[in-house]
This record gives sequence, structure tokens and C-alpha cells, in this order.
Amino acid sequence: MSNAASHTLSGSVAAFGAGAPGVVGVSDGAASLPWRAGIGLKPQHFRDVLATRPDIGFFEVHAENYMVDGGPFHHYLGRIREHYPLSLHGVGLSIGGEGALDESHLDRLAALVRRYEPASFSEHLAWSSHGGTFFNDLLPVPYDRPTLDRVCRHIDRVQERLRRRMLLENPSTYVEFESSTLSETQFLREVLQRTGCGLLLDVNNVYVSCTNHGRDALACLHELPLASVGEVHLAGFARDQDAAGAPLLIDSHGSPVDDAVWGLYAQVIDRLGPVPTLLERDNDVPALSTLLAEAGRAEDMLTAHAERRRCGTCWGGS
Ligand SMILES: [Fe+2]
Repeated sequence: MSNAASHTLSGSVAAFGAGAPGVVGVSDGAASLPWRAGIGLKPQHFRDVLATRPDIGFFEVHAENYMVDGGPFHHYLGRIREHYPLSLHGVGLSIGGEGALDESHLDRLAALVRRYEPASFSEHLAWSSHGGTFFNDLLPVPYDRPTLDRVCRHIDRVQERLRRRMLLENPSTYVEFESSTLSETQFLREVLQRTGCGLLLDVNNVYVSCTNHGRDALACLHELPLASVGEVHLAGFARDQDAAGAPLLIDSHGSPVDDAVWGLYAQVIDRLGPVPTLLERDNDVPALSTLLAEAGRAEDMLTAHAERRRCGTCWGGS
């Protein structure tokens, strides 16, 4: 479909969903995202993208911004979709919520999936609505057995309704629950194992959460079910401090990716090989060329890994 899609890197990403149970009647949608870097598609860049057709692996959009019948967003996304693979990223399903999923929201998601045939659909391990009240934040869940069962039921329902495997994103968190009986990595592992969904690994979220809770980010990264990663997110954070004066990082998506996050990303590539990588920027959005340059840094790292792998094969290495 796209000149960009044809430039996929050679190499191998870990088999998506390896070791996970199959999901009956669900296609492996995420497997077709190219092993390249992509960027979030912003309305202020619609015309620029169409005019310049940048060589980028894919675009990602927030599903909720397209839950209208018509208008300019659909006009431009439809035209851009003709040339690029698409990742559809949900922010409003409230998978961690206490109540049942909003079936009308699911219907709207299903309609978007039919309309744009995205290569990937993803959502967050979080909740954002309760009893008909909607919040602007992605709020954390306790890591306990009742929540685990509920999240698995909700993901089963999403995958059944959309008829495809979804990716679940690890959250950025600022507080933890005393009632938690599992670690975040244990929780995610079991969700993936029980539902067959994949992992959207947000490397910035790993760094933000670990810093806020005083944990080693690299150790947490290696505890995650990396074999099930279908997409990586990279983003920038803001620095703050809590009431006690300790460092507090905010997942702001309003600045370039920090060097510490780039370092963790290098570890991910070393472990997995090339993997679809999205540069997220939702606030203080710069010019398209600036976003493309940042995606270019990720793309260079993916290409360098593929080259190292090729040379290793030539020399008989592994
Ligand atoms: Fe993310």
C-alpha cells in the first residue's frame, strides 16, 4: 500500500505473541506494522504530510479523535492512510475500570477498524471513566487478583469485538496501591498469558514509573514479557518533585526523548532486534521536520542493529 511500508528492515523481531495462547477468531493485526520508526499524526501536519510524503514507517492516531461521522480529520486520514500503515491507539476504553466496558465505545472502535484497517490496535492498562464520569487522565489500577480477572475479561471482550489481537500498553504511574499483591511486571505477564494480547512497550513509561517509585528501570525492563512486544513507544517527560522534594517525572509527551530513555531503547533493540517504534508527541508539537528527525534517530538505531546482525551472520557469529 505504501512506499514507506516497502522499506521494512531485514532482521527479526521476536515473534509477536510467542508462547501466548491463540485467540480464537482473532487475527494477528500487529504483525504487519513495519519494523521501522513512526510518528503520531497531528492535524497541523496533515497538509505537510500529503505534500511531502515523508519516508516514515507508519503513523499512529488516537482513536477517540476520529469518533465522528465526517469532517476534515477523516478526510485527511483517509488520504494519508492510502500511503502509510496505521497504528490505532485508544485512550478512552478504560480497560482497568470497575464497570463493564462501554459497548457503544467499542462499536465506534470497531467501525474505525473496519474503515481504516489499521496494522495495530492498542490501549492502556489504566482506567479513565467510572459510573458515567469521564476523566482526562489515565489512572492506575491496583495489581491484585480481582483487577487481573477484570482486565482479562475486558481484553477478551475487546479482542472478540474487534476480531483482532490488541496490544496493551504498560502505564506511567505516580502512586501505588497498598492493596497490590503482584508487581506490575507479574501483572502484565499474566494478562498477556491469559488473553493472548501483545505488549505495547512504552519505554518512557518504564523510566518514568521506575524513577517515581525508586526502582531500577533496566531491571524492570528485563522483567517485562519482551517476547510479546508488538510496538514500542518513545516519548519525553517533564521533571518535577513531590511534596518531600524527591524527583517526580511526568509523562508529558511535550519534549524530546531523554537520553536515559534512548539508552533503555538501545537495550530493547539489542534484546529483540528491530521492532515498530512510535515517537509520541502530544503537547508543544513542533514542526513535522523536527518529529521526523527524532524518528530518524530511532530508525538509525534499528538499521544499525540490522547491519550488525548481517555482519554477524557473514562472520559466522550469532
Ligand atoms: Fe505511550
